[in-house]
Amino acid sequence: MDKRNQIISQLEMNKNISDSELAALLETDINEAQPDARTEASLSEDSSLDLFLFESADRVRKNVYGTDVYVRGLIEFTNYCKNNCYYCGIRCGNSALSRYRLSREEIMVCCRTGHKLGFRTFVLQGGEDDYYKDDILCAIISDIKTNYPDCAVTLSIGEKPYESYKAYFDAGADRYLLRHETADDEHYHKLHPESMSLQNRKECLWNLKEIGYQVGSGFMVGSPFQKTEHLIKDIRFLQELKPEMIGIGPFLTHGDTPFKDQKSGSLELTLRLLAILRLMFPNALIPATTALGTISPDGRELGLKAGANVVMPNLSPVQVRKQYSLYDNKICTGEEAAECKGCLERRVISAGYKMVVSRGDFKK
Ligand code: 5AD
Ligand code: FES
Repeated sequence: MDKRNQIISQLEMNKNISDSELAALLETDINEAQPDARTEASLSEDSSLDLFLFESADRVRKNVYGTDVYVRGLIEFTNYCKNNCYYCGIRCGNSALSRYRLSREEIMVCCRTGHKLGFRTFVLQGGEDDYYKDDILCAIISDIKTNYPDCAVTLSIGEKPYESYKAYFDAGADRYLLRHETADDEHYHKLHPESMSLQNRKECLWNLKEIGYQVGSGFMVGSPFQKTEHLIKDIRFLQELKPEMIGIGPFLTHGDTPFKDQKSGSLELTLRLLAILRLMFPNALIPATTALGTISPDGRELGLKAGANVVMPNLSPVQVRKQYSLYDNKICTGEEAAECKGCLERRVISAGYKMVVSRGDFKK
């Protein structure tokens, strides 16, 4: 067995490997390793180099979750944001973007549609928008939980004080997504303005854990200035945090941000990281993200085969989807919720898995 595959087997067995072994897995160049060369376009699907890695990840995933894929209805309820992260299209400094907010009633309409479609988790995602005070958010959360007691509510609304997180939890929120983005201080400052800090981000994540949320964290792959050592730190931080959910996706350029001239991340490296994370965190809920589906037409199918077990169809009203523009060329902006669900279901089946109607909680 070659060295690379030995490392992968070790990772599958021990759920861990050393930094240098991680670097070796992350850095192997597909073209170098296969001098019989391939074109860019055919790299992923038939790459025998990563096949062994993806097969190990798939085996581990099937051991815990079988072929089940969980569905989360994503409601992007506001694209106002007080932050100014350099990579993100809804940063407050982007004056080219027209802004929207969904009312409590509009959010409830999304949930009604989603529930009929079989979604049992609703993800309320938005920019950091102080327009929604804690009492409004709590009212929305308890509305959803009262009307749909069989559903989980996931929040993805950024950094908040402990008391706010506690209030949302007491109102019925079950889960919280907050990517750490990068676990390296210096790199963090290259992606965010002075006013933001990794320390604060981490503190929020620990607070969420303490309060009792199922917590999701993660990072962008191929973000500007990212090095292998940063990715290793990201993985080590996740090992420390032990999140129930891990979200990663390629960085994608947005033309109206300071990073407009930066290259997007790659499909291949994202898939590799998905598989590595599955091997390290056999029980984690890991989505095949919209960003992955944006960078490649079959990105999400490949993500599922590399260890992902969650998909997040868009449930936002079609009129606002283009405006929730984190990056350019976002998919699903012209589709109705039902089409998105159908489209994803076909993709899940074609990849060899089964979309299930359930809350899809973390399996301890
Ligand atoms: N490319 C890819 N992902 C992005 N996000 C924000 N901007 C971009 C971008 N340009 C991700 C961040 C954030 C999540 C909601 O979207 O990781 O946490
Ligand atoms: Fe939205 Fe395919 S998942 S159109």
